[in-house]
Formats: sequence, C-alpha cells, structure tokens
Amino acid sequence: MSRADVRKAILPAAGLGTRFLPATKASPKEMLPLVDKPLIQYAVEEAVASGIEDIIVITGRGKRAIEDHFDRSVELEENLKGNGKGQLLSQIRHISNLANFCYVRQSEALGLGHAVLCAQHLIGDEPFAVMLGDEIIDASVPAPSDAPSNLAVIGRYVLPPEIFPILRKTKPGKNGEIQLTDALRELAKSSPMYALEVKGNRYDAGDKLGFLIATVEFALKNPSLGSDFAEYLRNRMESAGEQRRTSRA
Ligand code: UTP
Repeated sequence: MSRADVRKAILPAAGLGTRFLPATKASPKEMLPLVDKPLIQYAVEEAVASGIEDIIVITGRGKRAIEDHFDRSVELEENLKGNGKGQLLSQIRHISNLANFCYVRQSEALGLGHAVLCAQHLIGDEPFAVMLGDEIIDASVPAPSDAPSNLAVIGRYVLPPEIFPILRKTKPGKNGEIQLTDALRELAKSSPMYALEVKGNRYDAGDKLGFLIATVEFALKNPSLGSDFAEYLRNRMESAGEQRRTSRA
C-alpha cells in the first residue's frame, strides 16, 4: 500500500467531550478554537496536506456547528466582500474548499471503534486514515519516501478495510466503549502493524490542561499575535514573581 492510495480520512467527532464540560455540553469539543481556528480544522488541514481528498466526519447530537464550519457561508462572504475584507474572505472561502466533506451520524457514543465502523459504507475496499480532531500534532508531514508503514499511533492511523469485520465483532472494552485499540490488537494477529516516529509535539486538546498548553504554544507561534502575547506572558511572570517575593518577605 502506498500513501497515494489513501484518499479518505475518517474524523470521529461524535464523542461526548466529558473532560471539557461544561463547555462541551451543547457545543462540539472539536469546535473549540485554538487561537483562531477550531481544533477540527487543524486535523482537516493536516489530512489535506498529506494528500487526503475525502473527509468523512462522524458526528452526533449537538455537532451541527462542524457542518456549518466547513460549508460555504454566502451571507458572510457577501458581507466581507462588501466591506473590502479581502484577506478574511479568502480565508473563509479556503475552509469550504479544503476537501470533499461528508457527514455520518453516530446515534449513540458507543466508542471510537464504533464511530469508525459507522463510516464503513463510505470507505469500501480501500485503505483509509483515521484522525482524531482533538489531538493536535505540531509537526511537518513526512515525505512519502520517509513513511515506512501503513499504520501509525497517537490519534493518527492508516488502516486497511480488514479492520471493519474485526470492529463489528469487538466487544465493549475500556469505559464500556467499543475501542479501536482492541480491534487493532486483533488485526495485529493477522497482519503486520507499523508505527511511524514523528518528530514534533502532540497536544491532547480534548483535556483542559492540554488545551491550555496548546493554546499558549500556538499563540506564541502566531505571526500576528506571538510577540505581543510573549510580552504579556513575560510581564505576567514578572509580576507573579514579585508577588511571591512580597508574600515571603
Ligand atoms: P475521546 O475519548 O478523546 O473523546 O475520543 P470524548 O469521548 O469525546 O471525550 P471525553 O473522554 O468524554 O472527554 C477520541 C475521539 O473519538 C471520538 C471523539 O469525538 C474524539 O474525537 N469519539 C469517541 C466518537 O466519535 N464517538 C465515540 O463514541 C467516542
């Protein structure tokens, strides 16, 4: 299997986001903004950069904002055009032109493995990627010649269609959910499994602390905000240090 064969990516986004409550009670975790882009857009851009053409998002109740985000917003476009905000307009248009989007409902959050299984009919008999939108990978996409395998771990997987019959038989595991990891363990008994070592940082942005760390790192790297934000942090650290010294004195 070559990387060029992988054209479709499943982005499971139907989880309940309990680690981020109450923010995720009625809003999708995947739409939490990392500086100025929702988490899921980072995963979509990463998929597109690695050659994916079709994005299948697994959604559930309360996740409509994801569909709206990747759809065109004619009214907004007209407004930006009329107000001469050309740069914003091209950014907004870029989002809906990123890939072919398709949405599948997972009617009950039965686990990541189950979410992947929900897209079986759209995958057919070809390898596909699974990318978790709440895991942010800050690294460059490896060149095809450097990618030694068709399987990777930490929120990014390339899987063969043989995983589907295994997922169908996988019983609920950890947290009572149908786990992708359990199905992968089963798959590994009949076919080799490879991991690609990626040099970069990974943030679990579905967790409050992980999200805050990712926000700070991405804000510091942001070309238009980075230096002002760094200055704010420096001043903040200095005044915190001063306060500590005063309280000790
Ligand atoms: P997580 O465990 O990180 O997400 O699942 P969660 O269940 O939404 O969050 P917590 O643990 O309750 O805070 C990894 C990914 O799998 C998706 C999630 O949306 C997330 O992107 N997922 C999980 C589904 O699509 N369906 C599920 O039934 C479970």
